[in-house]
Amino acid sequence: MSAPGRAQLLVASNRGPLTIVAVEDGDDEVRRGSGGLVSGMQAALAATEDAVWVCAAMNDRERVLARRVPDGRISEAPFVADALRGEFDVRMLPIDGQTFRNAYNGIANSTLWFVLHRLYDLPMSPSFDSAWRRQWASYVRFNSAFARALADAAAEHAVVMVQDYHLFLVPRMLRELRPDLRIGHFTHTPWVQPEDFALLPDDVAHAVVDGMLGADLIGFHTQRWADQFSATARAITGNAPAGVRVFPLGTDPDEMRRLGYRRSVDSALHVLEDVVGDRLVIGRVDRTELSKNVYRGLLSYRELLRTRPEWRDRVVHAVYNNPSREDVPAYREYTARIERLAEEIDDEFGTDDWTPLVFEIGDDYPAALAVLRRSDVVFVNSVRDGMNLVVLEGLVLSERSPAVVLSRETGAAEVLGDDAIQVNPFDVASTANALHEALAMDEGVRVERARRMRDAAVRLPPTDWFRAQLDALD
Ligand code: G6P
Repeated sequence: MSAPGRAQLLVASNRGPLTIVAVEDGDDEVRRGSGGLVSGMQAALAATEDAVWVCAAMNDRERVLARRVPDGRISEAPFVADALRGEFDVRMLPIDGQTFRNAYNGIANSTLWFVLHRLYDLPMSPSFDSAWRRQWASYVRFNSAFARALADAAAEHAVVMVQDYHLFLVPRMLRELRPDLRIGHFTHTPWVQPEDFALLPDDVAHAVVDGMLGADLIGFHTQRWADQFSATARAITGNAPAGVRVFPLGTDPDEMRRLGYRRSVDSALHVLEDVVGDRLVIGRVDRTELSKNVYRGLLSYRELLRTRPEWRDRVVHAVYNNPSREDVPAYREYTARIERLAEEIDDEFGTDDWTPLVFEIGDDYPAALAVLRRSDVVFVNSVRDGMNLVVLEGLVLSERSPAVVLSRETGAAEVLGDDAIQVNPFDVASTANALHEALAMDEGVRVERARRMRDAAVRLPPTDWFRAQLDALD
């Protein structure tokens, strides 16, 4: 028998399934969390009995609320319970604001994310100085707060599934506190070659890898990332790691259609249709995220319109961006640059009758889904991407059997294979050619390729993805 209130299955991630923000008149508004981790995990957990999701309080309002409820059980606050539809328990850890910001913005999003997606502008950054060391100390504290909370909440021999790069140190810390637990870690980002990982200070690189090796099961989206992790671990520890496995997260077609065919999405689609008319649509939906490569995506579209004028007035590029990580200066600068470039493209080609580019930054999920429904071409050109669920969702939601132009540096490229037109994300000219090829694709070929890609996209929906990891841990 487990102690009362202790859970048999726990998931830990920095971002939880919902965000709570204080809105004017003193009310709280509950929004869904964005990003691949939350979409996948939410679907997986909704189908699992008695799971507890441990996450960080990510803003002041959440910290206040989490401190008010016992054990941070935020899902018991009535307005949160409504939003979650009682699907699972959520515990938010009210880690102090400074420690959280250093760990999340400083280390997780500015260092580890940049290393794993190869985003550094190497002549200038990174430089690991004493200020950075203080942030690293916060990251260690942040991870240890999770390890302690999990150790307290877990029943004997419980299973704990730790998610992503915010929590790389948790498996080892938790194993030391609770040797009886079965621990999995899943990385939703790519991994890199050992020499790229060696950018980190040696002790930090060692701590990260050793932290992960505390898990019984170490999961990645693709074989490529798993192999690169194994090579890194071998370079650092001298041994081949055990327990490294591949679970390529797919999408759930029923759930996507439920979300994508609501009335709010129909309305957003009508608004888009008014602008687009019967032209072809190249659609993309991303967070305003450096790794998504929207900048070169726009350059490629401009190149297409410049070099192949026959497409002018026959195509619209619909770009929907969801704001992300606005506390990190590099993200704010990046967002400003893509906005400027979008204006330039509109100035260069727009006419009274034709809007070449629909470019939006906002938090309007129905509008994002409407773009996917209307896409003739789904366009993803990430610099690097653990999986990229959006392309899989686009294949399920588009009403037009879309062609796919896809960066070869994404996990999704391994899943969709040659039915997607794969591109080098840095090669703007060849990406423009790929867009041309996608727009011009013979209809029979396009429909057939879209059908095969759709099958691949739904092969391992979140529930099965999660179940496969639990089975592997058994
Ligand atoms: C990626 C990461 C997730 C993260 C998401 C959104 O998908 O793998 O861990 O939650 O981006 O980023 P954010 O910083 O807003 O949580």
